[in-house]
Amino acid sequence: MAEETHVLDRPPEGAAADWTIDQHWDRYTAEEHATWDTLFARQAQLLPGRASNAWLKGLDVLKLDRPGIPDFRALSDRLMALTGWQVVAVPGLVPDDVFFDHMANRRFVAGNFIRTPEQLDYLQEPDVFHDVFGHVPMLADPVFADYLAAYGRGGQRALGLGALKYLSRLYWYTVEFGLIAEPEGLRIYGAGIVSSFSESRFALEDPSPDRIMLDLARVMRTEYRIDDFQQNYFVVPSFDELLRLTVETDFAPLYDALKQQPDLPVATVLDTDTVLNRGTQDYARAKG
Ligand code: PHE
Ligand code: FE
Repeated sequence: MAEETHVLDRPPEGAAADWTIDQHWDRYTAEEHATWDTLFARQAQLLPGRASNAWLKGLDVLKLDRPGIPDFRALSDRLMALTGWQVVAVPGLVPDDVFFDHMANRRFVAGNFIRTPEQLDYLQEPDVFHDVFGHVPMLADPVFADYLAAYGRGGQRALGLGALKYLSRLYWYTVEFGLIAEPEGLRIYGAGIVSSFSESRFALEDPSPDRIMLDLARVMRTEYRIDDFQQNYFVVPSFDELLRLTVETDFAPLYDALKQQPDLPVATVLDTDTVLNRGTQDYARAKG
C-alpha cells in the first residue's frame, strides 16, 4: 500500500540499497506453509463467481494453487514470461519513492512474512498472503500489468507535485478495493478484497455499501477507511477502460483542481455519480 506510516528512512540491516531482501523461502516452517494453505483453502471456495476472470486466470496460469507459500523465484519466472513483472521481497513497508521506483520498473514488492494462525482474519501490515495471493494474479493480466507500471510512474510524478494524497486514493479504490462490471455481474479484483474471507462477500453481496461507477476526479477526492470494510466501492467497466483513462489523462491539472475542492467523506453520494447500488450503510451504522 502506498500510503502508510511507520516507515524507516533507510534500508534496515541486511537489506539492499533498493530495500529488497532475500525471501529466504527455505526458512519458512511447516506451520507457516500450513497457514498459507488454510488461507488459500478458505478463499478458493469463495472466489469462483466472485473474483474477476482476470484474477482467476492469473491464479491458474501462475500455478498459485500449489500447496505452500510460493517461492518468488519460480513465481517471477512465470510472471516475467507473461507480462515482464517480477516479485521481490522487502522487509515491510518501504518509502513511497522506493515503492514507486520498483513499480515503474515492473517489480512488485511483497512482504515475505506470513500472519500467525491467530491473525487469519485481520492484520495491519500486508503479509505474503495479501501481497501474493491478493495482488500477483492481476499482474498476469497484460492490461492490468501495464496499469500498475503506469501507476508507478504516476506515483513518481505525484510525489513531485505534492499530490500523493489524491493518487493514493486511486490505488486504494482500484488496486486494493476495486470492483469490475463483467457480463455476468459485478466481480472483485482489488487485493484487499480477494484476500479477505469476509470482505469478499461483503463487497459484492451486502446491501450496506455504495457501489458507484469509477470517475477519476471523484475517486481522488474520496477519503477511505483502513479500519473496517469499505463504505463505498468503485466499479470499472473493464481494465482496458481503466488503463486508457488513466494513461490518457494528464493528472497535473486534476491535482490542481482537487486542491481547491473539499475532500469527500466516505459514503457520500453525489448527483453526478453513476450509482449501481445505493447502500443502506446499515453495517457502518450498526458499528457506530
Ligand atoms: N496519467 C497520469 C499522470 O499524468 C499517470 C498515471 C497513469 C496515474 C496510470 C495512474 C495510473 O500523472
Ligand atoms: Fe495491498
